Amino acid sequence: MTKSAAQIAPATGKLGILTPGMGAVATTFFAGTLSVRNGLSEPVGSLTQMGHIRLGKRTDHRNPRIDEFVPLAGLDSLEFGGWDPFSDDAYTSAMKAGVLQPRHLESVGQELRVIKPMPAVFSPDWVKRLEGYDQVKDARTKMDMAELLMEDIERFRTQRECERLVMVWCGSTEVYREPSAVHQDLESFELGLKRSDPNIAPSQIYAYAALQTGVPFANGAPNLTVDFPAMTELAAIREVPICGKDFKTGQTLMKTMIAPGLKARMLGIRGWYSTNILGNRDGEVLDDPESFKSKEVSKLGVLETILQPEVYPHLYEDLYHVVRINYYPPRGDDKEGWDNIDIFGWMDYPMQIKIDFLCKDSILAAPIVLDLALFLDLAARAGKSGIQEWLSFYFKSPQTGPGLYPENDLFIQLTKLKNNLRALMGEELITHLGTEYYEE
Ligand SMILES: NC(=O)c1ccc[n+]([C@@H]2O[C@H](COP(=O)([O-])OP(=O)(O)OC[C@H]3O[C@@H](n4cnc5c(N)ncnc54)[C@H](O)[C@@H]3O)[C@@H](O)[C@H]2O)c1
Repeated sequence: MTKSAAQIAPATGKLGILTPGMGAVATTFFAGTLSVRNGLSEPVGSLTQMGHIRLGKRTDHRNPRIDEFVPLAGLDSLEFGGWDPFSDDAYTSAMKAGVLQPRHLESVGQELRVIKPMPAVFSPDWVKRLEGYDQVKDARTKMDMAELLMEDIERFRTQRECERLVMVWCGSTEVYREPSAVHQDLESFELGLKRSDPNIAPSQIYAYAALQTGVPFANGAPNLTVDFPAMTELAAIREVPICGKDFKTGQTLMKTMIAPGLKARMLGIRGWYSTNILGNRDGEVLDDPESFKSKEVSKLGVLETILQPEVYPHLYEDLYHVVRINYYPPRGDDKEGWDNIDIFGWMDYPMQIKIDFLCKDSILAAPIVLDLALFLDLAARAGKSGIQEWLSFYFKSPQTGPGLYPENDLFIQLTKLKNNLRALMGEELITHLGTEYYEE
């Protein structure tokens, strides 16, 4: 049950943000947040830190900042922690990731060096192409692994004196697997953990540990993790908010901006060819066909739900959609994504759009981690639990309840997010009807 504005618990004390995975995205998030907190940078790309929200009528001129409208945890109250199979501290890991320049890392170097990853629950069966890792938990069963993670969580909570925690999966993309019998309900899943069922992935063990300890969980990768019935059951029992999957950055962000625009004007699309070169560790993991399959499924889904070919067969039924990612080390984190879009207009006359996006993946992903952590914490304090569809805005493949298709249009997602904030605070929802200004 969502509480009324007056009943939302205040954001007192410290909020701990735990990231399984302390690679490019997580360390760029840590470093950037510390830099903003120390007054060295602006939080560009973060809706919670920079966004405003209109309240009431246009003539009311009420447009507060989101962080002044809803009671979010302040950046000063954040504590950071995580797990990784590589023991590098956040400073070393960020240097190796090569996203941020050494002078920027040095400016928050002291604070980054003390963020040391805890040993990971990791299996090379689920993430291939990672070599040289040096700290992996050893336990008899997967349930024992989950218990070790729960001990880590509670130790972190006590040692850092955190009032609340949230967890955001920033680990590598696991290989593609459909949900199996073990995922169908909590009882089967717990039995599977005790029997070390091979269908249970490491990320699912983190999610289980988080929910069992009452920690909200967001999934930044395309793997299942919290998106199966046993986890939604556990989230309901523990009354914990969850969301996923796969941070919406780069090419998919562009796609979910452009496709709604073309559809709005009833322009047809025959083909959309997307290809990328990427040279970071994420690119290396995605070079494995099984991990890429997880990514491909998440990337391909967006056009279908935006364009609705079943409603507009002439415009979109024959759309040929291809997504490729090629590992190309010289580029590091500086991805380049090309899109060729074959569209058609009046009398089916063909036209083309070309996009060449020279993007920095982790620069786009880091503010998403911050926003998700703060909004999930808000959701928990407001008494919200289960799937948080209003956070679809941040995901390539938004998690939804059974039988619901996801909303992928970025602009509808933003409207949904803001209306949820208005509803949470007891403000009128904005319908954009606009007739009230013309009524006598
Ligand atoms: N960068 C983006 O824009 C973006 C967008 C969408 C999704 N993602 C996803 O976010 C995740 C992180 O991306 P990245 O660029 O930081 O990758 P990265 O390879 O730099 O970092 C991932 C880290 O996770 C660690 N890891 C792997 N398995 C783990 C486990 N079981 N437990 C704990 N740690 C584990 C790896 O050792 C590595 O340090 C990836 O799954 C990626 O696909 C990234």
